[in-house]
Amino acid sequence: MKNNMPIQGRLYPSHYSLLYFIKGEKANTFEPDRLPAQTCPKCFGDLKDYGGYKRKMNPLGVNLTDVWYDIPPVRHRKYKKRNGANELSIKILDRIIELSTKEGDLVFDPFGGSGTTYVIAEIKNRKWIGSEIDNCEIIKDRFDNISEDKQHLVNIREKLNSLFPPAVRREREKNGLWTVESVRKNGTHDLKNKSSKETIEPAQQLKFIGDDM
Ligand SMILES: C[S@@+](CC[C@H](N)C(=O)[O-])C[C@H]1O[C@@H](n2cnc3c(N)ncnc32)[C@H](O)[C@@H]1O
Repeated sequence: MKNNMPIQGRLYPSHYSLLYFIKGEKANTFEPDRLPAQTCPKCFGDLKDYGGYKRKMNPLGVNLTDVWYDIPPVRHRKYKKRNGANELSIKILDRIIELSTKEGDLVFDPFGGSGTTYVIAEIKNRKWIGSEIDNCEIIKDRFDNISEDKQHLVNIREKLNSLFPPAVRREREKNGLWTVESVRKNGTHDLKNKSSKETIEPAQQLKFIGDDM
């Protein structure tokens, strides 16, 4: 996080730790989203030097790692549902639910807070169960206005599973910067959504490097 006010006597808290457990050897569902390449929000240039490997970058984005830098805490009043409380970003819940569940699965969050888990589970067609020891009015209000979170989630998800999401790609083309298409002569992959992952042959996927860049 940038531009934080210092807190006397301690380091500014800027991370959550997530514990991930599965039952048995293998998770029933493990479908991580892929992330876009990091680009400058103003000029859309690369924030990393991919050197001669651009052609081998996976057009669907870079692999999710176990450190998520791209999720800031919920601070903006427009998105904050519960003043003074520790509220999780819908980006976190979207990522967790997307990674570990399928439609129709059941999500349980015993600590409801502002109801982020429940709202995202609902929007993503998962069943959900929860509890909250404190006031649940915020959660009810949130469901009454679920279209706000729905739209916010659409905005978030359209930037995933593509190395350069459409808006970024347009700006890069305008600025003469490289794109998947410009560096790959036969670059005909559908970049729109995660399901298009399946259109790439596994052997072809192995050829993509830079997944950890
Ligand atoms: C960090 S917040 C949860 C944030 C929530 N997942 C969200 O993103 O909005 C933790 C919540 O757990 C609630 N809580 C604490 N102990 C509880 C208990 N024993 N049963 C139910 N809720 C509890 C607190 O009131 C608080 O609202």
